[in-house]
Amino acid sequence: MAKSSGTITSDTAESIAHAARRLDEGRMVAFPTETVYGLGADAANDAAIAAVFDAKGRPRFNPLIIHVTDMDMAERYVHISDTAHRLASAFWPGGLSLVLPRLEPCTVSLLAGAGLDTLAIRCPAHPTAQALITALGRPIAAPSANIFGAVSPTTAEHVAQSLGGAVDMILDGGPCYAGIESTVIDACGEQPIILRPGAVTQEEIEDVIGKVAITTKDGGNTIRSPGMLERHYAPNCQLRINATAAKPGEAFLGFGPNTPPNALNLSQTGDLKEAAANLFAMLHKIEQARAGAIAVMPVPEIGLGRAINDRLRRAAATRAS
Ligand code: TXA
Ligand code: MG
Repeated sequence: MAKSSGTITSDTAESIAHAARRLDEGRMVAFPTETVYGLGADAANDAAIAAVFDAKGRPRFNPLIIHVTDMDMAERYVHISDTAHRLASAFWPGGLSLVLPRLEPCTVSLLAGAGLDTLAIRCPAHPTAQALITALGRPIAAPSANIFGAVSPTTAEHVAQSLGGAVDMILDGGPCYAGIESTVIDACGEQPIILRPGAVTQEEIEDVIGKVAITTKDGGNTIRSPGMLERHYAPNCQLRINATAAKPGEAFLGFGPNTPPNALNLSQTGDLKEAAANLFAMLHKIEQARAGAIAVMPVPEIGLGRAINDRLRRAAATRAS
């Protein structure tokens, strides 16, 4: 008998409606956002959320992002601070997740929020994500749709390769156009803190709200930023950053016009937006070619380069000898 789970389905209006019914029944659906594909479940359904943690092999202390259609939906679950209002007006819908205090009572599963008194709320811009949340009529909790610790998925095929039969349905909306996860910012207090650099840059955020703080890996901020504890974004082989040339046995991932002609190039012109959109897809490609190791050229630590370097540094650190 043909396997019915993990099926990639084009994101037509009909399949989105079907996916929303599956979510309503407590099943998992993978869906596209502009950043990466998410593994979605009804945010109010404890059993469905538990299934998401199990499918990913993700530790339960690491909370999920809650996806909403707009500010009106967000306001039913969290307290929106002034800073959060300003950030949402500037960047929603889009690649910014706001960590805010949960309202009491709040129907979002405690498991989804890992028992914290805050929730990370995101309003995705991708029309399929928007249509799916609208059809369900309530928030979708969704981590990136990959096995815990692996490279994030930016196509439906990446999801199928990583999670396969564990997902009931994969809505295919084509490649994610931003390609790197949302920026996570703690907007609870007076001093906003970037917990994870991502699709919306620090510079863009500071243009709107002024200077922001950044968590560092060893900054002692482990409760605020549980996800930073993870082994993360690791390809299945060793990765070396700031490389100028490939050593024997290494696949080379370039950036900019000085990349050797036969190597993969995150962006020929050195465009960080293009590089972010290509990053995970190129890492997946190198993994599939079964390269023994990857050497990546330096990427400038500005704008989206911060998010790109964050993912590369973690991938490199996890395999360092
Ligand atoms: O772009 C994205 O954010 C994608 C798409 C699917 O929306 N989602 C995503 O989810 O990257 P995930 O689970 O891979 O990463 C969520 C991050 C984790 O680092 C987690 O610790 C953090 O957000 N997070 C979630 N809720 C939080 C909270 N209440 N406080 C602090 N950090 C939180
Ligand atoms: Mg992830």
